[in-house]
Amino acid sequence: MRTNQHLIDFYNHYDEDSRLAMKHGSVEFLTTMHYIEKYIKPGDHVLEVGAGTGRYSHALARQGYEVDAIELVEHNIDIFRQNTKPDETITITQGNAMDLAGYPDDKYEITLLLGPLYHLYRIEDKRQAVREAIRVTKPGGVVFAAYVISDGCLLDEGFHRGNINVAEYIRKGLLDAETFAAKSEPKDLFELVCKENVDELMSIFPVTRLHYVATDGCALLMREALDAMDDDTFEWYLRYHFTTCEREDLIGVTSHAVDVFRKNVRNINGL
Ligand SMILES: C[S@@+](CC[C@H](N)C(=O)[O-])C[C@H]1O[C@@H](n2cnc3c(N)ncnc32)[C@H](O)[C@@H]1O
Repeated sequence: MRTNQHLIDFYNHYDEDSRLAMKHGSVEFLTTMHYIEKYIKPGDHVLEVGAGTGRYSHALARQGYEVDAIELVEHNIDIFRQNTKPDETITITQGNAMDLAGYPDDKYEITLLLGPLYHLYRIEDKRQAVREAIRVTKPGGVVFAAYVISDGCLLDEGFHRGNINVAEYIRKGLLDAETFAAKSEPKDLFELVCKENVDELMSIFPVTRLHYVATDGCALLMREALDAMDDDTFEWYLRYHFTTCEREDLIGVTSHAVDVFRKNVRNINGL
């Protein structure tokens, strides 16, 4: 399995820990936790694949859950270890989402795959990571798989902020001039998709979708407004967002989405 050196270099220098710290950045974390809390039960075992510096793993371990975490990049693992409190029942292991061979079938009630799919570029590779996440999940358990969504990023980083030069991206073939669908390869770091891509990717798996959630909705697009909100207004914003983040007329305009699905109790051979 080839390791993407671009990815390792990026996360070695990226302040992953404070990414979610500001109001606009916290929406993604709070929304994902909101959905995890709908399904997690006392005594559940959690696997976090692509755990980064461990925001979700630590939050869940501090609530008393047993968490096993896997992360590719050593630098993130070092920070993860520094952040671990003595009373947390938590393990962190270096590994790749595409090969969870060290983990048994059907073990975890909750499996989080919140990041690796951002960095897998071929549908077969993404399916391999999803297949592994499903394999280690208990039948009836719930998997959370996150994606970076192309339209939200194009609006925010492209047309709004100008960090992406749209004309240049089209010239380089990174954006389709007709559909505005994104294309990327390892040197581009992030693989951007839309919901149709997620539906196609997931169509072969014996799972039942519970939710498809616009995790940060318009939060990145309107980050200045969110960061300027007083706490009371931000609470109302969160309530609005939690109420609308699955609405079909709104889910495309998000920078991240999470697909929440249950592993069917009767499984197909070979998964
Ligand atoms: C955007 S971060 C998300 C971290 C964390 N899950 C969160 O949501 O805060 C993506 C993480 O996935 C890790 N990652 C990327 N590809 C991976 C792979 N194939 N296997 C395991 N981890 C991977 C990256 O190193 C990075 O730490």
